[in-house]
Amino acid sequence: MSNVTSNRIAYYRYGGPDVLCWEPEELSAPGVGEVRIRQEMIGVNPVDWKMVAGYFRHTDRVPFPHVPGWAGTGVVEAVGTGVAHLHIGDPVIAGARGGAFREHLVVDASLVVSRPDSLSIEQAAGLPSSAVAGYSLVENLDVAAGDTLLVHGAAGSVGSAAVQVAVSRGAEVIGTASAGNHDYLRSLGAVAVEYGPGLLDSLRRHRPIDAVADAVGGRETVAVTREVLGTRGRAVTAWGDPHSDAAGIPWVRHPADELEQTVALAARGVVNVRIGATFPLARAVDALTFSQTGHPAGKILLVP
Ligand SMILES: NC(=O)c1ccc[n+]([C@@H]2O[C@H](COP(=O)([O-])OP(=O)(O)OC[C@H]3O[C@@H](n4cnc5c(N)ncnc54)[C@H](OP(=O)(O)O)[C@@H]3O)[C@@H](O)[C@H]2O)c1
Repeated sequence: MSNVTSNRIAYYRYGGPDVLCWEPEELSAPGVGEVRIRQEMIGVNPVDWKMVAGYFRHTDRVPFPHVPGWAGTGVVEAVGTGVAHLHIGDPVIAGARGGAFREHLVVDASLVVSRPDSLSIEQAAGLPSSAVAGYSLVENLDVAAGDTLLVHGAAGSVGSAAVQVAVSRGAEVIGTASAGNHDYLRSLGAVAVEYGPGLLDSLRRHRPIDAVADAVGGRETVAVTREVLGTRGRAVTAWGDPHSDAAGIPWVRHPADELEQTVALAARGVVNVRIGATFPLARAVDALTFSQTGHPAGKILLVP
């Protein structure tokens, strides 16, 4: 198995998206337990710009140069020793832990699952990290028929997956979003409410809420969660911060096997990723700048 010449997006210091650069690299053959993937599409997640900005510099310091990217899909082009479940030519989805913003990706095979024929390349690239987190929120809350679930940030990539999984389990779902996303939330089977100053009043008009999946975080959102649940109910967040910590709301960070379960749900049409915008990989600066707005109206994708 030979080396391959490729291109990647890398950064050499923390900062805004403009610290990213497009550069060539030489990738070696995959090592023990690894595969090399020729990537067809890459998913962008808010964690990408947050890592570039150094949000996790005190807990998960990265060695420079670092390559962003937690999601990709493509075709296996080389297999390291000790990998039995993947073969050259297999279409796959990778839930990487950083490093996916590159044309060819060498990755631990345990983070890679097969891409079902029924999934488009766009859908496949949109699943790792965000849709997996949405699934994981609902799973951790043990949402079932008869529950009323509030999803904060229901129109986002995490929240919309949580809505779809919870609806498929027979739960009543109330989702917060800005008015422009309310038709979208209704199309997923959720009741749409606007976030902001009137949120608590809107929620009081609905059934008592049993559980909250928070895909937003922050002081106001956590305060609403505590208010609607009182001393009862269950809550988890996809964005752990000092406010959710202080309120005792656990931060769900999904284990790798939940990628497989999320992919299976997507293959059955239970989870559908809304696609927001697509950029060439070389324009990752623009993609992360767009992600930073917090209102991308769908998954942002990169094409190598
Ligand atoms: N724990 C994990 O494993 C994991 C994995 C992936 C992501 N995350 C985190 O989860 C969060 C969401 O990620 P994402 O991929 O869903 O982001 P996204 O696709 O960019 O969506 C963000 C959403 O937040 C909504 N929003 C913004 N402010 C809001 C508010 N105050 N109340 C309610 N909704 C609000 C926006 O809705 P409008 O446009 O309608 O305003 C938008 O739909 C991020 O913090 C991300 O870092 C965690």
